[in-house]
Amino acid sequence: MKSSNGGSRSFFVHQLRCYLGYSQVTMLQKHLRVLQRMYEENSIITQDFSFANIDKFSTSSLVTRLTTDVTNVQRAYQMLIRIAVRSPGMLVFAFFMAVSINKTLSLVYLVALPLLGIGLFFLIRAAYPIFTRVFKTYDRLNTVVQENIRGIRVVKSFVREAHEVKKFEVVSSDIYDDFSKAEKIIAFNSPLMQGMMYLSLLSISYIAARLIVASSMTAGELMSFITYTSQILMSLMMFSMVVVMITISRASAVRIEEVLTEKSDLEEKKDAINTVADGSISFSHVDFSYTKTKEKRCLYDINLDIESGQTIGILGPTGSAKSSLVQLIPRLYDTFSGSVKVGGVDVRDYALESLRKEVGMVLQKNLLFSGTIAENLRWGNEHASDEELRWACRIAQADGFIQQFPKGYETYIEQDGSNVSGGQKQRLCIARALLKHPKILIFDDSTSAVDTKTDAAIREGLLGELPETTKIIIAQRVTSVMDADRIIMLDDGRIHDAGTHQELMDRCSRYKEMYCSQMHKEERA
Ligand SMILES: Nc1ncnc2c1ncn2[C@@H]1O[C@H](COP(=O)(O)OP(=O)(O)O)[C@@H](O)[C@H]1O
Ligand SMILES: [Mg+2]
Repeated sequence: MKSSNGGSRSFFVHQLRCYLGYSQVTMLQKHLRVLQRMYEENSIITQDFSFANIDKFSTSSLVTRLTTDVTNVQRAYQMLIRIAVRSPGMLVFAFFMAVSINKTLSLVYLVALPLLGIGLFFLIRAAYPIFTRVFKTYDRLNTVVQENIRGIRVVKSFVREAHEVKKFEVVSSDIYDDFSKAEKIIAFNSPLMQGMMYLSLLSISYIAARLIVASSMTAGELMSFITYTSQILMSLMMFSMVVVMITISRASAVRIEEVLTEKSDLEEKKDAINTVADGSISFSHVDFSYTKTKEKRCLYDINLDIESGQTIGILGPTGSAKSSLVQLIPRLYDTFSGSVKVGGVDVRDYALESLRKEVGMVLQKNLLFSGTIAENLRWGNEHASDEELRWACRIAQADGFIQQFPKGYETYIEQDGSNVSGGQKQRLCIARALLKHPKILIFDDSTSAVDTKTDAAIREGLLGELPETTKIIIAQRVTSVMDADRIIMLDDGRIHDAGTHQELMDRCSRYKEMYCSQMHKEERA
């Protein structure tokens, strides 16, 4: 908010503080700050989050917080700002007038107002926990919707439509139940207010009748008094609505604040280093855990030295933490203990952007964005020329199929790359990473959907065109890694053995078994 609004805003805050009670106003101020930050930052704050932060909140919860919760706070604020101006003014003026007409009669307010306050307090106390719960259920609803829309093809191919519908129904009926429960409680607000209003009017009429008979009040004064009373009660009713709105939006505001105040768990040092000397990598006594607990580690005491320009293969059964191991190199996660060095410097000493620029990674769960092929490729390097795009695609063996599309590099890729095959998508992702010209290239099972011949051609291209780049290749097929300088056999988060193809054939029975069985299969095929 601009400073010119500061004066008028502090006036509001002061006014409100008088009428709403201190705690509600502090809450309101908090809302304002949340809204203000949302607009000021003018970006989705979550872009700063590390992978670990995202794991913590879950994608669907972030979506609910950024949509439903924000709307709740916004709506409350829009409503408040109108009522907050009108009702306090009305209340003060009417109250002052009523007291000036007849002090004795004004005592009725002394009874009615605290009763109203107590009633409202109990309503809010009962409803607030339910609202908090509802928004958690919203997260679940979002997960269900996201999953079955994104995975609609899988749902259909497994004929799980009925099951998915049921899942949706269960969550949405949970929300329905909770919401109607909370709304039922909140609905008492209106009868409480109305009841108080008429009760006050009745008492006033009763007392006033006696006063008039005793000639200490005129009928005209009574008429004015009643008018002011209804104005006081009207503005109180508005106030109670404000309180209700704050209650609902408070649950949301707390959730938004959690996102806003979440610190990325990857802190950059102040004097962070901006240049990566070379593509050497060194793991020293590295333990890693997603949950940051010693018990749930998935990498144990990893020691590994990779020289710049080497090609390293990583083999291991699924779940052996191959992906986890390589994610530590561009510092997508931090180690639990031990250190990872790139170019001789601890990854925690680099500016994240500089480090990640030099580490090109083709993630296992890779993604293309909606846009043309050229646009997607330029994610790697926005200034890449058409010639460079073609160079990268030739190495990644993608140029051939792209040229066959009628629109070539201008072919439009649908969301999630649903209009290209799995193998084509993988090759586009490889080309995208190559365009970054990084010092280290990591392929996490990136050619699993590519045939053996193309896979070999990609490796040959990498070796010929990028001899200086360190290449780390995670694969399921032994053939994908057998000409690597070193092959690392990973098992259950530990390095089982490491060596060249020949060394492992000689001494590692598991490697030999894997090689022979895969070769055998290929021969039969
Ligand atoms: N984001 C995550 N949060 C928590 N645990 C995870 C996450 N990703 C992977 N894991 C766990 O870490 C272990 C190793 O997984 P991963 O490195 O993906 O294995 P691989 O790539 O060898 O198949 C698995 O037990 C998996 O359940
Ligand atoms: Mg993996």
